[in-house]
Amino acid sequence: MHDLIIFILIISALLVVASLLQPLAERLRLPHSVLLAAVGVAIAAASVTLLQVRGVPMLREAAEAVSGLSFNSSTYILVFLPALLFQAALTIDVRRMMEDAAPILLLAVVAVFVATAVIGLALWPLAGVPLVVCLLLGSIVATTDPAAVVAIFRDIGAPARLVRLVEGESLLNDAAAIAIFYVLLEIITSGDEPDLLMGAWDLAMDLGGGTLLGIVGARLGVAMIPLLRGRRTAEVTLTLALPYLVFVSGDHFLGVSGVVAVAVAGLVFGAGSRSRLSPSGWAYLDAVWEQVAFLAGSLVFILAALMVPKLLGTVSLHDGLLLLVLVAAALVARALVLFLLLPPLTLLKLSAKISNSYKLVLTWGGLRGAVTLALALSVTEARGIGGEDQRIVTVLATGFVLFTLFINGTTLRPVIKLLGLNRLSPLNQAIRNQVLALSLADVRDSVQQTATEYEFPPTVARAVQKPYDARIQEVTSAGSLEEQISDRDRIVLGLIALANRERQLVLEHHGLQTVSGDIIEGLLRNAGEIYDGARTAGRIGYNRAARKILRLPRAFRFAYALHRWAGIERPLARQVAKRFDKFLVRRLVLEELIRFNSRNLKPLLGVRVAELLGEVLSGRLDASTKALDALGLQYPEYAEALSQRFLRKLALRREMVHFESLFEDGLIGQELFEDLRRGVDARQKEAERRPKLDLKLDKVALIAQVPLFNTLAPDELKRLARVLRSRLALPDQTFIRTGDRGTAMYFISSGAVEVVLPDRRIRLGRGDFFGEMALIDGGPRRADVVALTYCTLLELRSGDFEKFLKANPDISGRIDEVAQERGVKRVA
Ligand code: CMP
Repeated sequence: MHDLIIFILIISALLVVASLLQPLAERLRLPHSVLLAAVGVAIAAASVTLLQVRGVPMLREAAEAVSGLSFNSSTYILVFLPALLFQAALTIDVRRMMEDAAPILLLAVVAVFVATAVIGLALWPLAGVPLVVCLLLGSIVATTDPAAVVAIFRDIGAPARLVRLVEGESLLNDAAAIAIFYVLLEIITSGDEPDLLMGAWDLAMDLGGGTLLGIVGARLGVAMIPLLRGRRTAEVTLTLALPYLVFVSGDHFLGVSGVVAVAVAGLVFGAGSRSRLSPSGWAYLDAVWEQVAFLAGSLVFILAALMVPKLLGTVSLHDGLLLLVLVAAALVARALVLFLLLPPLTLLKLSAKISNSYKLVLTWGGLRGAVTLALALSVTEARGIGGEDQRIVTVLATGFVLFTLFINGTTLRPVIKLLGLNRLSPLNQAIRNQVLALSLADVRDSVQQTATEYEFPPTVARAVQKPYDARIQEVTSAGSLEEQISDRDRIVLGLIALANRERQLVLEHHGLQTVSGDIIEGLLRNAGEIYDGARTAGRIGYNRAARKILRLPRAFRFAYALHRWAGIERPLARQVAKRFDKFLVRRLVLEELIRFNSRNLKPLLGVRVAELLGEVLSGRLDASTKALDALGLQYPEYAEALSQRFLRKLALRREMVHFESLFEDGLIGQELFEDLRRGVDARQKEAERRPKLDLKLDKVALIAQVPLFNTLAPDELKRLARVLRSRLALPDQTFIRTGDRGTAMYFISSGAVEVVLPDRRIRLGRGDFFGEMALIDGGPRRADVVALTYCTLLELRSGDFEKFLKANPDISGRIDEVAQERGVKRVA
């Protein structure tokens, strides 16, 4: 009991230290981990010294407590590692990361192997221990801790892609290095002759199995989200359990890599849950996890640093020399990968170009951290590894972590300055000035307004405005954006801003919960593609990516095939309805973007560029409107039902917001509030249901719409219905292709098609038919027939054609007549 109290006391005291160190690190412009490690080492050193000093008993007791604070390494690995890895993975945007999959995998996996090999081989001749032990040390120090580099990169506004690269790399290389570490440790402790093939096989199984486990675990987690009914505390609790569940089941029950499983689970869960959680739910989750990672990271650092005096134990000069070799080998390994292996990828267009200065920063910024320390600790506890082997590994690994923290960590910022990476590019500088000028002018005007409102004397207002005037003067004297950067650059800039805004707007719609998560996901993905398109290929890239949404998704095509070949209608109706939803949101977003362009971008980029951007946007709007109109024309009741549902959900959202603010202001009590909330929830659920779309493919109704069949008697109609099949054609679909064999002809019940002849196009509408010529003369199709709108058609297959004509002489005569006009004659 007493021990537990002391333990809690010490941990709390350490947390106080960690919290104070964060602002201090910012003040000193040092990575947080560097300070944490420094303080940890200092505390440990102080307690060791205090133990030797007699006198003040209280201090002695504290020192004893601190040095008695022993954690075994499995605690680190089991308690902290899953949380750290999961959080790192959770916040990574997997889809964007996949675009850089090649360099990330190279840096993460290949680099870990290279580092393990280079370091192992460099130390082997000098260290006096077996090669496997040297390789083990290599794998321990192969993982990098990205926090410091990422923090600085964010600070200096490094390209977002580079930040993603570093984050993705370190996440995966943790997983890879730990997996290699365990395989090597197993070889050493089992005492068997190292079998390379077996080792490689083990490693592959570890990695593959871990990946699979991570995917399955995360999928299950995502599937459980709807059960939690949007309760964010419940959602967070679920995610807190997830990494530990996959970690423990992987490592202890399934014999696959737990770390890999956790990392993969984080990635998959992050990607899958973002659109299933409400935006505020996601923000909450993100914040809680940031806190968890901060706590775990801080504790690991301090606690591990406390162990440093013990780990270092007896250090000799020889160890110091080895450490220098290790440092050099690690730098060489990293430089090899960055400078030799990355360029070919860039040449193959698998990776964005990374400038040499950034490569240097990445080489120098490869700090090692908590994971390395935890692995070093676990070597001290491993049984079956010799005393000197153990000592060398822990001393060197710990020494190396300290070296990277205290030498690389403290010099990283100066290095970046030296390379000039902290200077804004002229383009960014120009934008900064422009944005600053606009917002300063805004502030100045609002000061004026407030002063007038409160009837302050004009002198007061002027005194406050004066410094603003001076600053506006200062930033605008550098010249306007129009003078400083070319039209082309400004257009690209505008397109990027639009794509960014589009993402936000889609997310706002997600917040309103007006459409389902998978539609939002599709729109978000497309917004991401648009953003990248604009960045890499300007207006062409932007438009190309924007058009992607018009294409029919795979699920749609599959549903259509089911309808066409098996007569199954339901999935198609669902897909058509979804498309409706998607274009509805898309159109709303585009209308907002057009306003954003004229309100926010015009003052920044100039009239000419804003006009051009406006054209791009209205082009997109036209396409969406066209798609919506096409649906609305064919299914007007559905269009109305959908718009109603959309508005109804919006209204429910607003209702809830009102109740919440009434509750917060204390105007209504808890009970009433809960009651109201339940009411809204119930109606929300009702509104959630997508109205059923009737594709209107009922055969009898379709037949009744074709005038040609009007003269038929009821029993003839019945017979007719047996041979005809109903079909839906989609706008722009080429329903018949020139040269194909004719298998059927079609009567149009609703909608319009176009016959594309070499010299002209002929429009056909309700009551017309097409596809008869190939059936009459057995030749190939004579023209393309393209649907202009959604069309309902009645299909008469070639097998039934002759019989049908014989049974219906009137209709047969009409078909002959038309076919003859079109250029074929039937030989009866
Ligand atoms: P088929 O040749 O089977 O496939 C293409 C169809 O386009 C053809 O049958 C006719 O139904 C239609 N078509 C071809 N030429 C003309 C034309 N000149 N006027 C109207 N329709 C035509």
